[in-house]
Amino acid sequence: MLHGGFGTRLRPLTHTGPKQLIRVAGKPVSQWALEDLRDAGIHEVAVVLGELGPERVVEYYGDGSRLGLKLTYIYQGYPYGLAHAVYTAKDFVGDEPFVVYLGDNVLTEGIGEYVRRFEESGADAMVLLAKVPNPQRFGVAKFDEKGRLVGLVEKPKLPPSDYALVGIYFFRPPHIFRAIETLKPSWRGELEITDAIQKLIDWGLRVEYAIVRGWWKDTGTPKDILEANRLLLDYKYPGTIIKGMVEDDARIEGRVYVDEGAVIRSGSVVRGPAYIGRNTIIGSNTYVGPYTSIGYNCRLVNVEIENSVIMDNVTLEDIGERITGSLIGSNVRIRRRNTRPKGIRFIIGEHAVIEW
Ligand code: G1P
Repeated sequence: MLHGGFGTRLRPLTHTGPKQLIRVAGKPVSQWALEDLRDAGIHEVAVVLGELGPERVVEYYGDGSRLGLKLTYIYQGYPYGLAHAVYTAKDFVGDEPFVVYLGDNVLTEGIGEYVRRFEESGADAMVLLAKVPNPQRFGVAKFDEKGRLVGLVEKPKLPPSDYALVGIYFFRPPHIFRAIETLKPSWRGELEITDAIQKLIDWGLRVEYAIVRGWWKDTGTPKDILEANRLLLDYKYPGTIIKGMVEDDARIEGRVYVDEGAVIRSGSVVRGPAYIGRNTIIGSNTYVGPYTSIGYNCRLVNVEIENSVIMDNVTLEDIGERITGSLIGSNVRIRRRNTRPKGIRFIIGEHAVIEW
């Protein structure tokens, strides 16, 4: 699993760690990916780490046993691109067929079906494709008139189709490593996995594809994170689960996950789909609306919030306006004060966005 990148488009949330550790619908984005691998029967996983907070990833996942996985960490060093990251795992994979899963990609239906399909196919590689409205942002597939895959182009200005490459790839060594050895950096200065797969096609090797069922999201921007949050809350939490405490006179409506140690105080309303993190307190006179995920150790009092993702140790108090479509990083405190002199007081880090 690839866990690198700089997370530029997700600053300031990525100033302190990799984007894949942003907790969405109760779990870091990359944990959803690791669980997909595990649920597909893949238990030995190499996590290729980037330069941004790699120690946070090791600290969070450890040896992987908590998730039923055996993890090996590989340090990529300077990020020369996805193909380079894959190459760093050459010794780890040996002669075995393997899956590459980009840790910022989210699927709602898992990968079990595709793993089986690839194993049975005997192909040299298999890619997953999804129809998207903005193919320019992705690697894009080119088909011939019979619907056969004939090419792959990275971030084309004029996309040959609407089918984007999902960040999950299946390979059977050794050809993919030979292909990577021949690559030159692309216009964005990276060794592209897309170009490596194109080589396999050029060499006449068998590259198959499958169109993903269900939803797929690559979580590069705040908008993507909010969308992934909505998808995961919808698909991964079929019912209400209360591990924490819901006081009398607190209202839980729809599908809500209240994690261990969380308290929903009387006089508040949580309307799902929503996730309330460990040891978080939803105080009185508070409304948590649909598609909201709140992290660990947060405190919300006299607040209305919906369609938002809140990280850990956040305090929101007496805001007076409904918070919506927001992404709030760890240790943030937002509250309305009623003392004089009146006015809004900001202590905000780089790349913050505030819109009223
Ligand atoms: C990478 C791949 C691209 C693929 C995308 C999926 O893009 O290069 O082909 O469609 O992942 O998430 P990047 O995230 O590096 O822009």
